[in-house]
Amino acid sequence: MELRKINLKDAKEQWEYTTALPEDENGLTNPHHGVSFEEYREIVLPQLMSYEHPVDMPEWFVPETYYYLWDGDKLVGEFRIRHYLTETLGNGAGHIGYSVKKDFRGKGYGTAGLKLTVEKAKAIVSENEVYLRVNKDNIASQKVMINNGAYKVGEDEGHYFMRIPIMRKGNNFSL
Ligand SMILES: CC(C)(COP(=O)(O)OP(=O)(O)OC[C@H]1O[C@@H](n2cnc3c(N)ncnc32)[C@H](O)[C@@H]1OP(=O)(O)O)[C@@H](O)C(=O)NCCC(=O)NCCS
Repeated sequence: MELRKINLKDAKEQWEYTTALPEDENGLTNPHHGVSFEEYREIVLPQLMSYEHPVDMPEWFVPETYYYLWDGDKLVGEFRIRHYLTETLGNGAGHIGYSVKKDFRGKGYGTAGLKLTVEKAKAIVSENEVYLRVNKDNIASQKVMINNGAYKVGEDEGHYFMRIPIMRKGNNFSL
């Protein structure tokens, strides 16, 4: 299993994933649901790739890197890392968003993908913890987080706020 950064070569599989992903599922939003392959290749893909090093984006936009989880030749999930927290992200969606293809759910891909994503995040995010938010009724995603060492730091009406400590050499705290 591997996490591969969004790229031009995998355009077809990435498009199949993106166009099929619902517009909003458990708070994970996808404005590109139903996009045609041509529009994906010409407009959406370059835009998503540019989010890692944004150009001409509003002040509030935080760089975001998209990864896809591959099992052999099958793309099974999408994992996105926002590089740092603003006040809005810190009190909201946090660093990482993810989803797994419907027909591959319940097979451990969510758990394995988040593990690999937290590894990537070590080199990307500046904070010592990965911040996550999950809907209270999204048991599967809560399990994915807990399986990766997440603990609850708070809640609002509809969500739990969770964090995963990032273990880097030199971190002066332990679990
Ligand atoms: C959340 C999501 C990524 C989980 O992916 P997944 O590949 O099914 O996750 P896993 O197979 O690693 O399952 C994790 C745990 O959830 C459990 N689970 C899976 N689907 C479940 C369901 N529908 N209801 C309850 N538990 C479920 C699994 O049995 C497993 O339990 P375990 O840790 O006790 O073994 C996937 O359901 C998804 O893409 N959902 C839509 C988008 C979304 O909610 N994203 C997260 C936003 S915070």
